Amino acid sequence: MKIAHLTVEPDVLLAPMAAVTDLPFRTICEEHGVGLTITEFLSANALCAGAKKELAKLTASVGGRRFGVQIFGREPEALAHAAHMARDIGAALVDINMGCPAKRVVAGLCGSALMREPALAQDLVRAVRAALPMDIPVTVKHRAGWDDRHLNAPEFACALVEAGAAMVTVHGRTRTQGFSGSSSLEIIRKVREAVPRHIPVVGNGDVKTLEDYIRMRVETGCDAVMIGRGALGNPWLFRDIRAWLHGQNPPGPPSLSERREVFLRHVDLMRSHTPEKKIIHELRKAVAWYTKGLPDSAGLRDQAQAPKDPDALIASTARYFVELEQSGGLRRRAQGAVAACDNSVTNIEPGDMAAGAPTESSAVAA
Ligand SMILES: Cc1cc2nc3c(=O)[nH]c(=O)nc-3n(C[C@H](O)[C@H](O)[C@H](O)COP(=O)(O)O)c2cc1C
Repeated sequence: MKIAHLTVEPDVLLAPMAAVTDLPFRTICEEHGVGLTITEFLSANALCAGAKKELAKLTASVGGRRFGVQIFGREPEALAHAAHMARDIGAALVDINMGCPAKRVVAGLCGSALMREPALAQDLVRAVRAALPMDIPVTVKHRAGWDDRHLNAPEFACALVEAGAAMVTVHGRTRTQGFSGSSSLEIIRKVREAVPRHIPVVGNGDVKTLEDYIRMRVETGCDAVMIGRGALGNPWLFRDIRAWLHGQNPPGPPSLSERREVFLRHVDLMRSHTPEKKIIHELRKAVAWYTKGLPDSAGLRDQAQAPKDPDALIASTARYFVELEQSGGLRRRAQGAVAACDNSVTNIEPGDMAAGAPTESSAVAA
């Protein structure tokens, strides 16, 4: 996918997630083949005020890899200033959040509340566009609309593009839905149909498997998919998507030793990039993500609440993986998963998704 002059390959992005997509998490996803990661949303006002907590989240990817920064606010000058700060740390793109449904954000008339103020939303895009050099695209992430009586995503997206947005990401839920119900593929398809062809439209919502990814691409014609919750404890999803897009066999779920290694890699990244006093909290989250769905993991997650010493928790989690491997625990689960897998969707070839339009010949459409 090309966002103006910026190439994103493969066509899959990590969704910004507050308190999740910190530098360690983003790095793990990058190491597993995601096309681009974006910081969690950062308050433009807080960045302008030099708030330490917010500044700590404004982090460049490691190893010189490209990354995006997401900002939110409703004052053009503040957003322009925040965009300068993103540019100064080397951001490859600046994304404006117009989709957050959280009460505290909407109460400040930011996030998804901006979908009710398209003229101001355009001013914000113009201000950020004017603040950045032309090689840094301005993009926007928004929802289907405010509620199911105001599904204005297609017109809204077109207005943003007219103001200078080089890509839009659509989470196919309304603000009032929050995270309930399901993300509408139909509204994403309508945005794709409405927005000029050279502007990429990214589909977002409920993609947790390779099959979901393919369905999103085929049914909406979107140019790429953004994945959030499906990546928690499952960076291998990006590996599968990358392989599939390259015409290779997706390697599928990791072995237990791979899972343990990536957990330990995540821990190493925390040690280098997470403030000492936050490590135990972040570690508990990682334990929950990497062990979710594995046999007898509930006990480990309960125990994880007790230790105050990160080393004890790391050791017991590593031991859990080793013991599980020795007992052949995952084999039983993997056999069940393979038997349950409906491969009708993965029979579609990447080439079937030519230039966006859903293909009638696809198994999904059939
Ligand atoms: C914990 C959490 C934090 C989130 N924080 C942000 C955020 O900072 N910026 C944003 O645009 N969306 C945020 N979102 C929304 C996600 O980016 C995404 O749109 C949503 O989760 C739907 O995609 P998914 O089903 O792949 O998770 C957040 C979602 C979750 C679950």
